[in-house]
Amino acid sequence: MHQPVEGFSKLSKEEKIQWIADAYFKEQQAAVEILKTYWNSDEALQKLHDEFIENTITNYYLPLGVAPNFKINGRLYTIPMAIEESSVVAAASKAAKFWLDRGGFKAEVIDTQKVGQVHFIYNGDHDKLSDFFSSVKPRLYEETNSITKNMQKRGGGILDIELRDRTGEIEGYFQLHATFETVDSMGANFINSCLEQFAKTLEEEAQYYAPFTEQEKELQIVMSILSNYVPNCLVRAEVRCEVSALSEDSRISGEDFAEKFVRAVNIAEIEPFRAVTHNKGIMNGIDAVILATGNDFRAVEAAAHAFAAKSGQYKSLTHASIENGIFRFWIEIPLALGTVGGLTSLHPLVKLALEMLGKPSAKELMQIVAVAGLAQNFAALRSLTTTGIQQGHMKMHLKNILNQLNATDEERNIIRAKFEKETVTHSAVIKAIDELRS
Ligand code: MEV
Repeated sequence: MHQPVEGFSKLSKEEKIQWIADAYFKEQQAAVEILKTYWNSDEALQKLHDEFIENTITNYYLPLGVAPNFKINGRLYTIPMAIEESSVVAAASKAAKFWLDRGGFKAEVIDTQKVGQVHFIYNGDHDKLSDFFSSVKPRLYEETNSITKNMQKRGGGILDIELRDRTGEIEGYFQLHATFETVDSMGANFINSCLEQFAKTLEEEAQYYAPFTEQEKELQIVMSILSNYVPNCLVRAEVRCEVSALSEDSRISGEDFAEKFVRAVNIAEIEPFRAVTHNKGIMNGIDAVILATGNDFRAVEAAAHAFAAKSGQYKSLTHASIENGIFRFWIEIPLALGTVGGLTSLHPLVKLALEMLGKPSAKELMQIVAVAGLAQNFAALRSLTTTGIQQGHMKMHLKNILNQLNATDEERNIIRAKFEKETVTHSAVIKAIDELRS
């Protein structure tokens, strides 16, 4: 067992790696070499990546793939996706192609409001606090002027600030609940800076508010932070076509497919065990685009799942219907995204991904991302309700199994040909390779 380390962040990258190798690895040199294999030979590029976080020791690769043929509001996109799961990009591409021939995707942004809160404790007269808030509200705007000036020029800023009384749940607990428009930036820094200034102004002004008693003047700030729950930063994407147009071959009619599909969505609307997996499949598409475009996938995940549970029960984020012979499938999902600021101007691959998408506004990116989620869910449900998921999934996974088995090119060709017609399973591939090798 190694000793705790002091001042680790001050060590050089080489020293950090050496310390880790000494502390955790039997084959120390091999571990060092693996870590260094992933260093970029372009020193400036490596430095850029080193400085994204603290204690960087190497780079962690994920594949960046693309799913072409996405027609969204009449425009064609090739969507960049960063993800490790073998079948995701293939499934997205398939769904894009399917809907390309059926009118494409329609998407619209419903609203773009972000939220932030100052949480504080005040143990005094509620009416006095309410009067104090009304008198101090203009100061909250004035004192954040230097922060909001640029955002206002771009069409954003603070939309509203409300005082919320939560003393019914926690003694003395109030909030400043503020809403923001952050245009093309995700806005986390902007919102948090505004909130910290609100908190400062609130505390200071309370000191001079004559109607307050000495105790009331001592209102205590607990914390000031944006909320990642953004139910009013919402986008909707949809596909629709005649039920009869859903059939691709004679194996299943459009009517039967539509009914099975809608039933599968209905199950995810009432059964949380299914809903979580259903929504996970949606997030396969969403997270991949979020990562490729340098956005915060943790924020998007947290918001999406909170939204899925807004009724008190966790439900599907997508919905489907058949009415008058028309099949409709849609998603509504909160997405707080940025196309300026953060990694978007720093990471070369993020810049490239955004350029590939035609340098979208945050609103346009919300639409693209929602479509990627809808397409992913369409592909998953289509497989699940027809062939089953494993057929396509294992076909894609075959490459990974062959890599694990260090298959030669010749072995790969033989095995691939064999499994064109047979079901891929891990054990079946091992057996086939063993037979080949013996
Ligand atoms: C696998 O990553 C995602 C699916 O399980 C989604 C679903 O079941 O809808 C295939």
